[in-house]
Amino acid sequence: MTPPLFRVRRLRKEFAGNAVLRDVDAEIRRGEILGLIGENGAGKSTFMKILSGIYEPTSGTLELEGRPIAFDSPSDARRAGVSIVPQEFNLAKDLSVEENVFLGAELLKLRRVLDRTGMRVRTAQLLAELGANVSPQDRIEGLSAAQKQLVEVCKALAFDASLLILDEPTTMLTRREIDRLFALMRSLKARGMALVYVSHKLAEVKAICDRVMVLKDGELVREAPIAEIEPPEMARCMVGRELREIFPPKRKAVGPVVLEVRGLSSPGAFTDVSFTVREGEILGFAGLVGAGRTQIAEALMGLRPSSGVVRVGGKEARARDAKQAVRQGFGYLSEDRQGSGILTGFGIAENMTLVSLRDYASLPFVIDRDKEVAKARTWRDRFGIKASNLAAPLESLSGGNQQKVFLAKTLDPGPRVVMVDEPTRGVDVAAKQEIYRFLAELAAKGAAVVLISSELEEIIGMCDRVVVMREGRIVGELEGNHVEEREIMYMATGLRTGANA
Ligand SMILES: Nc1ncnc2c1ncn2[C@@H]1O[C@H](COP(=O)(O)OP(=O)(O)OP(=O)(O)O)[C@@H](O)[C@H]1O
Ligand SMILES: [Mg+2]
Repeated sequence: MTPPLFRVRRLRKEFAGNAVLRDVDAEIRRGEILGLIGENGAGKSTFMKILSGIYEPTSGTLELEGRPIAFDSPSDARRAGVSIVPQEFNLAKDLSVEENVFLGAELLKLRRVLDRTGMRVRTAQLLAELGANVSPQDRIEGLSAAQKQLVEVCKALAFDASLLILDEPTTMLTRREIDRLFALMRSLKARGMALVYVSHKLAEVKAICDRVMVLKDGELVREAPIAEIEPPEMARCMVGRELREIFPPKRKAVGPVVLEVRGLSSPGAFTDVSFTVREGEILGFAGLVGAGRTQIAEALMGLRPSSGVVRVGGKEARARDAKQAVRQGFGYLSEDRQGSGILTGFGIAENMTLVSLRDYASLPFVIDRDKEVAKARTWRDRFGIKASNLAAPLESLSGGNQQKVFLAKTLDPGPRVVMVDEPTRGVDVAAKQEIYRFLAELAAKGAAVVLISSELEEIIGMCDRVVVMREGRIVGELEGNHVEEREIMYMATGLRTGANA
């Protein structure tokens, strides 16, 4: 029998004595897509970083086609045929797309001259194959998160790889972009490539993978051909218990209007937007990516210029900047957590209490660290944040755990108007359930909650009322039993306008 493309034996990784991968044995075969799932912090990215030469294992061995191999660096791994689309983007902001795609591995003509045309053509080809609306000469800086994600995929595909690792590549993508990526993955598989797909979207794992492996606390706890495992069981293996009812029951009773927005416009982003959110209500914002939902939240937070009327609890609340917006009662979890909001070099506790810092000052300018840590502990337990300790730098947390810290940071000041943009992106199913419960509780305690999400399931599961946006305008509103997928999609794509529009 031919050996598998890759085999790892007793692979182990420790950070400062903490084992995060515990003697994993696994194999990856040609011509298959292997799904790798597990809770936030289970060790998925760490495992993949070892395969792609980013981390060295503490112990254990790697074999490529039956021969032992060790990688000194990512470029070393790339030469051996391993490419990775990392969970956290790794792009040089001030370079162009094509420069990024070939960074450190530029194509040469006659061995010494940069082959600019060759690189441009190759990049354009890959972008077209992905259906990415990006030009090779665009600078990274000006790209949206989705576009950056597609550039990372291009970068991984620019070289002939025998193993392609995709670590949560679809978190920022729309349905259509995901379908394109999946089509591409299938054709690569048909050409004999091995692919590893890391994701929290279990339905996607079911749709695209041939086999699935479940990591739990650094150990491989389950492996199965995809035909033998359904998403609910995947979830159970990941968290070690049955997960029923992901969404909390909806509440009917709502109170007076908390947030009132009238005729709000922001040039180039959205026009004449009016809506209200009541005490105890969760209002959903649905629409295609680029419909202007995020920009509304940014305008309310004073992060982008706008005109119109905004009132919180009847009081004028047009903020000039985010600080003022927080004082006026707004809390905002932005969509692009990687780009903003992260205080590198600072600990988890410090990051969590950043917005509400004043509450932790016992005297002016003196931060009560004990209080801060106590609060951080509460958040950690609430969301199941996995970290060696609360002083650990944020960068050392897994992607999903960083996400939870951002959410804690948004909620810590106890805002009256809570606006969350894609709040469960990259978090595991158990944490998702906890976040949903938490948002429902906030509403029950009297907050007005605005949920912006591309996951229709989430909108439908959580919201009493949904506003649908298209091209910068509100095109419809649905309530109660009318909140359902087909209606939302019709409105979002312009096939139908809503009764109240
Ligand atoms: N550079 C590092 N230093 C210290 N600890 C780290 C480092 N990188 C990862 N860890 C820890 O290793 C554990 C596993 O992290 P990893 O990123 O592999 O998780 P994951 O399964 O990819 O999770 P997620 O679904 O959230 O992306 C986490 O507890 C994390 O805090
Ligand atoms: Mg990860």
